[in-house]
Amino acid sequence: MVSSETSGGLFGTGERGVFRRTLPAPEEPQGRRMNRVLGLTQLTLIGVGAIIGAGIFSLAGAVARNVAGPAVLVSFLIAGVASLCAAFAYAEFAGMVPRAGSSYTYGAAVLGELVGWIIGWDLLLEYTAIVAAVSIGMSGYVGYLLNAVGLQLPVWMLGAPGSGEGHRVDLIAMLICLGVAWLLNRGTRTSARVDVVLTVVKIAVVLLVVVVGLMQVKTSNLTPFAPFGFGGAVAGAATVFFAVFGYDALSTAAEESVQARKHLPKAMILSLAISMVLYVLACVVLTGMVNYTEVDPKSGFSAAFSSVGLGGVGIVVAIGAVLGIVTVSFSFMLGASRLWYALSRDGLTPKWFGELHPKRRVPHRATWIIGVASAALAGLVPVQEVAELTNIGVLLAFVIVSAAVVVIRYRRPDLPRSFRCPGMPVVPILGIGFSVWLMSFLALETWLRLLGWLLVGMLVYVLYGYRNTRKVLPGGSVDLAELSRLAGDDQPVAAASTTTKEL
Ligand code: ALA
Repeated sequence: MVSSETSGGLFGTGERGVFRRTLPAPEEPQGRRMNRVLGLTQLTLIGVGAIIGAGIFSLAGAVARNVAGPAVLVSFLIAGVASLCAAFAYAEFAGMVPRAGSSYTYGAAVLGELVGWIIGWDLLLEYTAIVAAVSIGMSGYVGYLLNAVGLQLPVWMLGAPGSGEGHRVDLIAMLICLGVAWLLNRGTRTSARVDVVLTVVKIAVVLLVVVVGLMQVKTSNLTPFAPFGFGGAVAGAATVFFAVFGYDALSTAAEESVQARKHLPKAMILSLAISMVLYVLACVVLTGMVNYTEVDPKSGFSAAFSSVGLGGVGIVVAIGAVLGIVTVSFSFMLGASRLWYALSRDGLTPKWFGELHPKRRVPHRATWIIGVASAALAGLVPVQEVAELTNIGVLLAFVIVSAAVVVIRYRRPDLPRSFRCPGMPVVPILGIGFSVWLMSFLALETWLRLLGWLLVGMLVYVLYGYRNTRKVLPGGSVDLAELSRLAGDDQPVAAASTTTKEL
């Protein structure tokens, strides 16, 4: 399984090189696999569950009001196209190595250990920020609900400093982050089935918003359509980009999928397409019901319904938003703790962080650290800044995965793929271009925060990871074909390759 590569120096792919393509063997023995029960429909629903969240329920309102106006729907479309290009790349990897499902593994497998580490370290920050951002989104709707039952919370605890007058801390968002960490550490994991049920509720709420809302749209609210110009719509895209990813989290369901190789890539593309249709309609409703200058940036949809005399619908939407967003929070905190577990297992961070709780078998330390860090972000930083921090991290991951899919297509054309990214290499290159373009619209502070984080990451690698991985995973690289074979699918590789097709 392990082939030794001895060529190259420090910057080569050999055993001593930082670009050696180190991959761990799959973790669990065959006997401990989960039941394969999920088909294409459930997988697509899980994808929609991770995609639709605070991005539409909270950020759309803030962006419509502050930077784009009704053209926020153009922002969603631009972000959606960028995300689709990357989704094709993710889908090709998911159809090739359905088990090893994160950009960290894809990066390490194709572009080498150092790139894998950079992407893994980047994702740790990104996933933590996602949990914070969606908790802030939920907090807005929880506040709306408490208000509706006559409970007026003190202003100081309603938002982070800078998010509104008198705001000192977003206490509800902090409690949500800590609560999610606590539940995950008790071994409570929203099972795929619960996730599917909550996602159906969430889709039903968005459909309710669309159907009831469309009847309340006044075309006069939609003009001027782009009060901040095209530039506003593009700047908005860099923020609402937050709404259009999440399908990457689908790979965590690979082990429970009936035919992961065949269904995962399709589910990724389908879940994004369904979410995009709902987003566009929801944007028309949001900015058509009330003038963009009056959109509530915290609980936009509920407040819009209440302003046209449909307070009851507003409450149903708020409950649906809270239930719907919580699935995103669970998915990404779980994803972050699993990722940290993998980084520790592979020797890139000390084992201590990834150790499992002796009874509950969860990486409890990693989960608590992520819980506390996300609570701090959620409590003290305004949602737009947290979302931007997330976006820059995800966009960087998209750039690396899109580059990796081109490299692996030319380096290993022989590997069986159940899905092939169309328009190679133009589509992934477009994905890279779009991502870099969107990154350029993010605030300087966001760039500095990312650079600072990556700098710390490089120090950790130089002082610890580089030497330690050579102790934990000595001997060069694991063959990607072998990993693909071990990826575990009830559909044999040979059969999978016969289903290969271009979309
Ligand atoms: N796309 C996810 C959301 O909007 C992260 O909440």
